[in-house]
Amino acid sequence: MIIAVDGPTASGKGTIAKALAAHFGLPHLDTGLLYRAVGRQVAINGGDPDDAGDALAACAFPDTLLDDPELRTEETGGLASRVSIHPAVRQALYERQRAFATQPGGAVLDGRDIGTVIAPDADVKLFVTASVSARARRRWLEMQGRELDITLDEIERDIARRDARDINRADAPLRAAEGALVIDTTHFGREEAIEAAIEAVELVQRG
Ligand code: DC
Repeated sequence: MIIAVDGPTASGKGTIAKALAAHFGLPHLDTGLLYRAVGRQVAINGGDPDDAGDALAACAFPDTLLDDPELRTEETGGLASRVSIHPAVRQALYERQRAFATQPGGAVLDGRDIGTVIAPDADVKLFVTASVSARARRRWLEMQGRELDITLDEIERDIARRDARDINRADAPLRAAEGALVIDTTHFGREEAIEAAIEAVELVQRG
């Protein structure tokens, strides 16, 4: 079974994808991490994330970079969103994601274009979303003790900017795949969101 979980940043899609993978015994890939690694590698190379050539060169990042805690910062998230608009970058990361999705037994992948581009053949497609302010508050709470100099307002502006970039890019824009089940987590706690997702998958499984 292939489960595609798409949605904007801090919507809860990562938490949901991980929980679904554990519940159904499937491997999980956070595809945002690949774009974050490209964004981080551009910075390490001293390149320009808006330059297609620099961004493509950064796709040759070493796998060890995927464990770098720097990948989780807002700054790297912004770089990831910028490199992800280049079609050559999306193409370079395609095979790795497609191979993960089609491995025997299935998989759970979360990202922006899993149900639309990477695995349009997924058995279950979820689109996880929440209001900008709810997502900003979550991200802010998550960041307490880490990036102390960032305010809730700044995070909210940052999220709105990234949403606009992800939604309006020409290649594989963020949108719910046809037939995707939409889960709005604005008023959900962690457990409620996970429960709703498990129920959605079971509903599809029952046909
Ligand atoms: O999910 P995230 O916040 O870690 O993603 C960071 C950026 O990577 C996001 O703003 C857009 C890009 N991305 C993408 O274009 N396609 C994906 N499947 C996953 C992430």
